[in-house]
Amino acid sequence: MTNDKFTILDFRRKKESGEKITLLTAYDHPMAWLIDSAGIDAVLVGDSVGMVMLGYDSTVPVTMDEMIHHSKAARRGVERAFLIGDMPFMSYQASDEEAVRNAGRFLKEAGCEAVKVEGGREVLSRVRAMVDAGIPVLGHIGLTPQSVSKLGGYRVQGTDAASAERLIEDAAALEEAGCFALILECVPARLAKKITSELSIPTIGIGAGKHCDGQALVTHDLVGYFDRFTPKFVKRYAEVNRTMLEAIKAFKNEAESGAFPGDEHSFTS
Ligand code: KIV
Repeated sequence: MTNDKFTILDFRRKKESGEKITLLTAYDHPMAWLIDSAGIDAVLVGDSVGMVMLGYDSTVPVTMDEMIHHSKAARRGVERAFLIGDMPFMSYQASDEEAVRNAGRFLKEAGCEAVKVEGGREVLSRVRAMVDAGIPVLGHIGLTPQSVSKLGGYRVQGTDAASAERLIEDAAALEEAGCFALILECVPARLAKKITSELSIPTIGIGAGKHCDGQALVTHDLVGYFDRFTPKFVKRYAEVNRTMLEAIKAFKNEAESGAFPGDEHSFTS
């Protein structure tokens, strides 16, 4: 691990050198600090905050103000990693102007270095407008959770020839529009491999197999802090929920029995 600041130039450098890019989500200061300390390349303040922290059933209700609040907290924990703010549903869909104004808030108010938007050819003019305004944009295609109603659920995308072709064309168009990298979510590994080999910007996969230029996960999934459901592509590296529940129950038992606080946790004068 190096202490050098990870910049936008390092995404393409890593693709060219064949080093894998790592990206994890954070929505608050302590998690962002842990991820940064571990040497992860990029931190995404994802709109997944709505599901894993705020208790919504989908990412659709998440607002700009909620995203700015969480992005500011994550900013205070990140020194080295590249910080990306996720544009929530209806913060960029209506017009190029609204997209630029809201993307600008992530940079000006929250100190993010880039923004992420979901979608393919339908967001190309938004991407161009933001990039023209000096705002780096991370694309996101495949399973795009903000469109879950249109997609008919959280399911693998690009499984037939026509939809695979559409994703290949969307990826090329997003690169041409100026995205610096592309998230591929829930697409077959073979399709992700083809897209990765055809682009000069890096692909970062989440449920897209091993051939992407980088890998992403929602941190609360990988540490076992969010366990309402676990997608097939998530690998659980810890069971933090269980550890926390045991600690909370131990406190309850000791507080009720009088075993806590002991003398060592009390003031004598
Ligand atoms: O919101 C999010 O966490 C995301 C990741 C799944 C890439 O978009």
